[in-house]
Amino acid sequence: MRILVLGGTAFVGRAIVAEALDGGAEVTLFGRGKTGAELFPEASRLVGDRDTGDYTALRGGSWDAVVDVSGYLPRQVGQAMDALGDRVGRYVFISSTAVYQEEGVGPGADEDTPRRPPVRTVEQVEDLDNATYGPSKVACEDDVLARYGERATIVRPGQLVGPHDHSDLFTYWVRRAARGGRVALPGDPEQPVQVLDVRDLAGLVRRLVEDERPGVFNAVGPAEPTTLGGLVRSCARAAGTEVDLVRIPAELAPRFPLVRAAWATQQRDAARARAAGLPATPLSQTAADVLAWDRDRGEPPLTCGFSPEQEAAVLADPRPGGARI
Ligand SMILES: NC(=O)c1ccc[n+]([C@@H]2O[C@H](COP(=O)([O-])OP(=O)(O)OC[C@H]3O[C@@H](n4cnc5c(N)ncnc54)[C@H](OP(=O)(O)O)[C@@H]3O)[C@@H](O)[C@H]2O)c1
Repeated sequence: MRILVLGGTAFVGRAIVAEALDGGAEVTLFGRGKTGAELFPEASRLVGDRDTGDYTALRGGSWDAVVDVSGYLPRQVGQAMDALGDRVGRYVFISSTAVYQEEGVGPGADEDTPRRPPVRTVEQVEDLDNATYGPSKVACEDDVLARYGERATIVRPGQLVGPHDHSDLFTYWVRRAARGGRVALPGDPEQPVQVLDVRDLAGLVRRLVEDERPGVFNAVGPAEPTTLGGLVRSCARAAGTEVDLVRIPAELAPRFPLVRAAWATQQRDAARARAAGLPATPLSQTAADVLAWDRDRGEPPLTCGFSPEQEAAVLADPRPGGARI
């Protein structure tokens, strides 16, 4: 099987490429050559730039499937489809659960949940924000489905986690739980939380390509539903520590890793993806692997959550405004 991956050298695409190579696929990577240039020496490399619209390197060759991991704007996806035409058997577009409307959506929402209106006006990826990221993906999805029909496959991941994740959202909890003791939680420990091991996403993509399966698939996890408190305890179990969760006022940290106001966004249904072969890595395994990866890279400063000093101050005086953080 010959697979072209647009992207493939940072986190999500990297896992997809590793899984495809593991399955014996012949993989071609398309990117600028800036990220992960040392990765995957066994894959062929094509150099181009989706910002400037340089797809010249895609003028030759044919593939059983293209997996578009680096497409955010309809312009980018349209140009890639123009360049590839019918020289790809299937177009797999990595979208996001951010395409869905949040209003009026309850637990167990599936792929038929109404999407947000498409946005086509954003020109540069850097200009995307919370208001336009999902709607721009909506426009991309529509264009891929219109062009490839039964040869289109749309994958909508929720929060992805695992080794090489530089968002720090899950790594924060893995690292914090590994220290054990009293853990400040500026949210409700009963809040449902969905995180999917990026390697499970990669396994799903491999199966969808191999089975030539069309359609739209939510890619959320873990298979065993969990809560924020359950997630932190799973991380502690993986590290062999004990934690005591201390709920503190949410006002102390309005944006905190994996704390969400809209609980239904954390209760999406992945039955269709499971039936299509979405693997089910246990959360404790993902936590153990992230812990090992984080230690191996030397535990650099994280971009979110409390520092140990901030947390100690909050735990000493948890009233809003009581601790200076
Ligand atoms: N992380 C999550 O929780 C999550 C959730 C839902 C959906 N997603 C989706 O996952 C995808 C992002 O994953 P990722 O960044 O980790 O994927 P990735 O494919 O591992 O990394 C991004 C790739 O895009 C290439 N790239 C960046 N800018 C480019 C450009 N201008 N032209 C050509 N290639 C370019 C990079 O290589 P060069 O720098 O060498 O060009 C790199 O290979 C997105 O589609 C996102 O919407 C992620």
